[in-house]
Amino acid sequence: EKVVLAYSGGLDTSIIIPWLKNNYDLEVIACCVDVGQSEDMSSVKQKAIESGASKVYVEDKKAEFVKDYAFRALRAGAVYENKYLLGTSFARPLISKVLVEVAHKEGAKYICHGCTGKGNDQVRFETGVFSLDPTIQIIAPWRIWDISSREDAIDYAQRFDIKINVTKEKIYSRDQNLWHISHEGGDIEGLENEHKEDIVYVMTTPPEKAPDKPTYVEITFEQGWPTKVDGEDLEPVDLLRKLNKIAGENGVGVIDIVENRLVGMKSRGIYETPGGTLLMEALKDLETLIFDKDTFEFKKLVSRKYADLTYAGQWFTPLREGLDAFVDETSRNVNGTIRLKLYKGSVKIAGRFTDFALYDEGISSFGASELYSHKDAEGFIKLFSLPNRIRAYKKHK
Ligand code: ARG
Ligand code: SIN
Repeated sequence: EKVVLAYSGGLDTSIIIPWLKNNYDLEVIACCVDVGQSEDMSSVKQKAIESGASKVYVEDKKAEFVKDYAFRALRAGAVYENKYLLGTSFARPLISKVLVEVAHKEGAKYICHGCTGKGNDQVRFETGVFSLDPTIQIIAPWRIWDISSREDAIDYAQRFDIKINVTKEKIYSRDQNLWHISHEGGDIEGLENEHKEDIVYVMTTPPEKAPDKPTYVEITFEQGWPTKVDGEDLEPVDLLRKLNKIAGENGVGVIDIVENRLVGMKSRGIYETPGGTLLMEALKDLETLIFDKDTFEFKKLVSRKYADLTYAGQWFTPLREGLDAFVDETSRNVNGTIRLKLYKGSVKIAGRFTDFALYDEGISSFGASELYSHKDAEGFIKLFSLPNRIRAYKKHK
């Protein structure tokens, strides 16, 4: 019998290999999904074999991740609890999908992951897997074994001769991909502690150390899809990489949040989403020019729902797909370029270029125009204020 293990090369998933072999007598197929976590995949592969895996899959899903997950969530305007751009949340369903594909290829009945029993990721992986194949059985070691700390895990690794490159000092729990990196645990768990920029940041220069001169960058969208940076056509992965670099250098895109987890507790995290932050700022601004008021208001509801679904691992659902259909339809005219000005952690809109704006200088400027006459406002205000006038009459009586 075989089990497919979601493998990262880190401490937790490395010790899971001998643990599975000792406790279940299963052949372990390690599966590492490359979503841009900037690991050396050949050493991850080697590590899995050294730890006892019989086979390793390294699946490069960077292009699919950026286009079908990150950019979908971007176009939907998905932001969790007003801040979090969901970089870990929407990577999980893609990883689940690949795990299921590998399980089918290998004829494996089991899928195993290294998430703890206290977090969101267990919910997302398992909900993702069950949405695609409800017959697969999940093994979640952190909910079974009595290894309860990093220290225990290190001891276990040493017992089974697994090479590890972490020390017993507390370090952050991190999750990286092309869209973001998250940091949780360690001193971040103390609410009174300012996060240590120099130690925490991986993709970002602390704002104080960013250049003393602003940087301008232009992002072009076609039907809400980002297609160009500074006029240059780029594939999604390259486009995101380029924006990550520009935003990161200018200290842009870090949030410090206390969020509500699915399992009921609150947790604190620091998330770096440099390029994603620029994309979200630019796209939301472009939409303000193009959407009529009702569409704009309804899109806010869609964004909110999309974010909640994504956070909760409800990616492979008819509702999420339905919301994407709404986004596709309303994004038809979302074409244009937004110029941004980045300076020591801040982003400002520095120019708007589109042929699809409902904004019209002729109508909006103070002079008279064909479509709008100052005189028309008088009747409008009379009817608009009718309830107010009625209330006032009644009060005076
Ligand atoms: N709290 C964030 C989320 O739920 C980040 C989770 C990071 N996961 C991890 N395994 N380090 O999406
Ligand atoms: C974990 O608990 O495995 C990571 C954090 C999370 O899933 O929320």
